[in-house]
Amino acid sequence: MLDLDAFITGLPKAELHLHIEGSLEPEQMFEFARRNQVAIPYASVEEVRAAYDFSNLQDFLDIYYAGADVLRTEEDFRDLALAYFDRAAADGVLHAEIFFDPQTHTHRGIPFGVVANGLLAGMAAAEAKHGLTSKLILCFLRHLDEEDAFKTLSQAQPWIDRIDAVGLDSSELGHPPSKFERVFAAAAAMGLKRVAHAGEEGPPEYVYEALELLHVDRLDHGNRSLEDPALIARLARSGMTLTVCPLSNVKLCNVASIDVHPIDRMLRLGLRATVNSDDPAYFGGYVGDNFRAIAQGRTLDRDDLVTLARNSFLGSFLPDNAVATHLARLDAYVEAHT
Ligand code: ADE
Ligand code: ZN
Repeated sequence: MLDLDAFITGLPKAELHLHIEGSLEPEQMFEFARRNQVAIPYASVEEVRAAYDFSNLQDFLDIYYAGADVLRTEEDFRDLALAYFDRAAADGVLHAEIFFDPQTHTHRGIPFGVVANGLLAGMAAAEAKHGLTSKLILCFLRHLDEEDAFKTLSQAQPWIDRIDAVGLDSSELGHPPSKFERVFAAAAAMGLKRVAHAGEEGPPEYVYEALELLHVDRLDHGNRSLEDPALIARLARSGMTLTVCPLSNVKLCNVASIDVHPIDRMLRLGLRATVNSDDPAYFGGYVGDNFRAIAQGRTLDRDDLVTLARNSFLGSFLPDNAVATHLARLDAYVEAHT
C-alpha cells in the first residue's frame, strides 16, 4: 500500500493562501542581502530560524516586514516567486493564488511595478517550467489607512488586468474589515474578486463584516467563526471557502497544538475548508507539510484529505472548465491509489 506521505505529495491540489513574502527562506534572505548589499540583523541562518518563535500575529509581522527589506529588484521578486513555485510543484500543487503586500515595498521606495513585474515573471516561468498556473491577489495592509489602500489600488492600474483579486491582511485586532468597505467596493467595480483575512485572531463580528461589507468571495482563516453557530450554518449553507492554515495557527498560538487543530471539525460541520501554508518559510512548512501535520494522529482519513484537495479547486478563482479538468485529474489519482 502506498504510504500516506507519498499519497499526500502526489495528491493534486491548489494553494489559495500563500503570502509570497512569507516564502522568503533564511538562506534566500542572506543571498538577497548580499547581492543588494543590505545589512540584516542576523549573523547566520540558524540565528534567523531561532528568531522565528512567535507568541502572536504581531510578533511575527514585525519580523516578516523587516525580512522583506532585502527584496529590492524585479529579479528578487521573480526569484522569490519561482523558488516558491518549485516547492509547490514538488508538493503536487497544480494551481496557486498568491498574495502580495505592495505597501510593504512601496513604503520603502520600491515602485509597485518592480514588485508586480517581478512576480508576474516568476509566475510565467513557473507555468513554463512546471505547468503550474497561478493568480495574483493584491493585499491591503489593514494597519494602514483607507487613503493608503486607495493610493495602492490606483498604483496597480497598469497591471489591473493581471491581478485577479484584492485581499486584506496584517494586524487584525483593532482593524476591522469595515475600515476598507469603500476600497473593496472600488475594487469590485473594477471587476476584481475579494478575499479577506478574518477570524484569525479577530472575533466572529469581523467575519460578518467581511461577508456583509466587503462581500468576500473567499474567507482567509475564518477559524473564530467556530465560536458562532449561526455563522457556521451560514458559511456552510453558502459554500464559502475557508483558506485554513494549520501550521500557521499553531506557530502564532491561535491553536494550542496541531493535534487539536479544528480542521476535522470544520469538515464535519460542512464547511468548505482548504489546507494552505500562509507563510511557509516562517511557520515550518509548505502545503504538503501542512497536510502531513493534520493527517498524523487524528481522525482525518484519506477521504477527508481528498475532500480538502477537492475544496481547493472548488474554492479557486479558476474558470469552471479548468476546475472540472483538475477535479477529473484528482479523481483519476484517487482511483489509481485505492
Ligand atoms: N501577513 C502575512 N501573513 C499573515 C497572516 N497570517 N495574517 C495576517 N497578515 C499576514
Ligand atoms: Zn495569511
